[in-house]
Amino acid sequence: MTLLRVRGFDVHKGYLDPGRQAALIESLRPVLKAAPLYSPRVPGGGQMSVRMTSAGQFGWYSDAKGYRYAEAHPSGRVWPAIPAEVLAIWTELTGLERQPECCLLNYYGEGARMGLHQDKDEADFSYPVVSISLGDDGLFRIGNPTRGGKTESLWLSSGDVVVMGGEARLTYHGVDRIRFKSSRLLSKGGRINLTLRVVT
Ligand code: SIN
Ligand code: MN
Repeated sequence: MTLLRVRGFDVHKGYLDPGRQAALIESLRPVLKAAPLYSPRVPGGGQMSVRMTSAGQFGWYSDAKGYRYAEAHPSGRVWPAIPAEVLAIWTELTGLERQPECCLLNYYGEGARMGLHQDKDEADFSYPVVSISLGDDGLFRIGNPTRGGKTESLWLSSGDVVVMGGEARLTYHGVDRIRFKSSRLLSKGGRINLTLRVVT
């Protein structure tokens, strides 16, 4: 395990050993069953290549009307609870009493990507966002607090955990591509990224 600091993001390389990664995947199975992945539409009229779902009191949601947190899955059912295995990582790395209210699950299949963006739909930016990578490698790009300027990229591998907090809480970031089937954690390949956020 090594800790890198890239533009204010704490990148814990190899934070989760293979056993813990497998246990996390198991803990996500009931979440995916209760709240199946969907492909969010975006305000411009397009569709994201990443498929998503959430656990917790709130789920991050997007459609033609915009980005927001919603209290129910598109099916109308409330989101499943955030698994204890996931919450443990938040507590270990942030030391915070307060628990996250949203665990967004992003699934990157072959060819999926996520453009540079800020995480700014939450009420209080003094809380960090904790991001957990599982499965295939993803090329993570880190920009600046405002759009534009030079960026820096690094590969995130299964078991890496990134804490985006402090001055870097509103730094632009995205995923350019994944190396499909570079990991054997998910039998069908792909990358899962979990982000934990305090919403209210
Ligand atoms: C995100 O910014 O929501 C996802 C980041 C990632 O997939 O690593
Ligand atoms: Mn983000």
